[in-house]
Amino acid sequence: MRRKLAAGNWKMNGLKADLAEVAALTAAHPAPGTDILLCPPATLIAPMVAAAQGSALAVGGQDCHAAAAGAHTGDVSAPMLADAGATHVILGHSERRQDHDEHNEHVRAKANAALAAGLVCVICVGESEAERDAANTLDIIGGQLSGSIPDGVTGHSLVVAYEPIWAIGTGRTPTLDQIGEVHDFIRMRLERRFGPGIGRSTRLLYGGSVKPANAAEIFAVSNVDGALVGGASLKASDFSAIITALEAAPTQG
Ligand code: 13P
Repeated sequence: MRRKLAAGNWKMNGLKADLAEVAALTAAHPAPGTDILLCPPATLIAPMVAAAQGSALAVGGQDCHAAAAGAHTGDVSAPMLADAGATHVILGHSERRQDHDEHNEHVRAKANAALAAGLVCVICVGESEAERDAANTLDIIGGQLSGSIPDGVTGHSLVVAYEPIWAIGTGRTPTLDQIGEVHDFIRMRLERRFGPGIGRSTRLLYGGSVKPANAAEIFAVSNVDGALVGGASLKASDFSAIITALEAAPTQG
């Protein structure tokens, strides 16, 4: 049985004052029935880890470099994230793929660096609207899975997030059937490549305009083990409502 995961991605949002949201969130969920993860900007990782001390909240990065150290101005490495107290890292987010021209092979190299540093990799995949309109969604997702996920993952060290690009920050979401189709496909591809043990124990998150109002119906979809939440993770009240919906969702796996 897979433990559900509510993950928040603060993207390039958050100042020290926003750590008040962390205090409110951990107070609202002293013993959550799901795993909870927040991925703030790199500047807030260490203070968020300190603010989350003694709670069930895990803290993650939003990206890491493929090298452990070196002459890469402005970048952050996986051992640095771990050193700051992070336990997870988001990799291959569509905003990184678009803004920084990251391709599957870069994501795979970063994932190998993250695994070497003992971090759980939250690897993102997702199609553009043009790719969905051209009925290429599963081809795109399949290519991203095989290209981005390294061989050395386990059911613990890998989380896959399905984030259709056109649903991110738009208020639009796929139909529940479309979400189920992609999640079932990802599960099948993971089982085929890694075998049933890893394939069935890897958590699959849906991301893209998840809100308190639509969370429960999305969490009831087959092979949805949680969410990767952007905007609605910035306020404790919204993210808390999503966590509560996930705790109440049917068991998967
Ligand atoms: P929104 O929840 O703001 O649509 O963002 C989703 C996302 O990109 C999370 O990584």
